[in-house]
Amino acid sequence: MIKESVQKAINEQINKEFYSAFLYLAMAENFEAMNLKGAAHWLFTQYKEELGHAEKFMEYMNEVGGRVELKAIDAPKREWKSILEAFEDAYKHEVFISESIHKIMDLATRENDFPTQNFLQWFISEQVEEEEQTLAIVQKARLVGEQGYAIYMLDRELAQR
Ligand SMILES: [Fe+2]
Ligand SMILES: [Fe+2]
Repeated sequence: MIKESVQKAINEQINKEFYSAFLYLAMAENFEAMNLKGAAHWLFTQYKEELGHAEKFMEYMNEVGGRVELKAIDAPKREWKSILEAFEDAYKHEVFISESIHKIMDLATRENDFPTQNFLQWFISEQVEEEEQTLAIVQKARLVGEQGYAIYMLDRELAQR
């Protein structure tokens, strides 16, 4: 049986993954409204990935006899003026999520919860990727700046995801 303290931390993480999904969905809708369809597509794909993360945590809780507790999801920000602004927020958010997962790993280590430590390995690698990919887009968006044609090209690149 999974310990109460670890269950609590995982339930909080489930909420954070749903919030992540909500944040990316809000960003996707923002770029739909701006007709930057490539950015919208990239972010909508990320929204679905985040739902998958929440589901993965829930599945694990069920496997180890924990009880999933769903909490209210905070409303995300509504407006981003540029691809750069959105991806800067996305990168910061992913760093926050990585730290949150590292804290659960720390807790599972202190609690001698080996199955949870093993389970979290996947998320630790996943977060390295998520930080890397959002930062790469921030760096490209910085390079592009305010140049309309370059923004158009970046949007086309984001459509490839
Ligand atoms: Fe996630
Ligand atoms: Fe993420």
